[in-house]
Amino acid sequence: MGSAPGDAKKGANLFKTRCAQCHTVEAAGGNKIGPALHGLFGRKTGAVDGYAYTDANKQKGITWNEETLFAYLENPKKYIPGTKMAFGGLKKDKDRNDLITYLKESTA
Ligand code: HEC
Repeated sequence: MGSAPGDAKKGANLFKTRCAQCHTVEAAGGNKIGPALHGLFGRKTGAVDGYAYTDANKQKGITWNEETLFAYLENPKKYIPGTKMAFGGLKKDKDRNDLITYLKESTA
């Protein structure tokens, strides 16, 4: 990605409005419609115990980090064809950067 860290406050707001109906970030958050995102950075795709992923998500086989999230969140269905994540994507680079900065702090 190579850009400066984003604005975590704006990222938190994006998470609340665009992701929180399906995901949690905190340690005890657990799975909702989507898998728990706690511990996301450095984890392989499809690795949350007890969550029923699609094969597409499980077999993507990448590690989640700033770069892979930046590509995924722009257009999830393009990055993981066959995913059941019903989210069209965040098209603005700045929004993704802000959100990823927030995720890095909140999921650790
Ligand atoms: C309508 C519900 C929904 C929304 C909104 C949503 N997701 Fe998801 N997400 C899912 C589902 C369902 C999956 C599992 C996909 C699969 O198994 O194919 C998923 C998977 C993921 C994964 C892969 C996790 C892993 O362990 O491999 C990440 C990362 C993710 N979502 C992040 C986000 C972020 C960040 C947002 C907000 C920008 C978001 N999602 C919005 C439902 C959603």
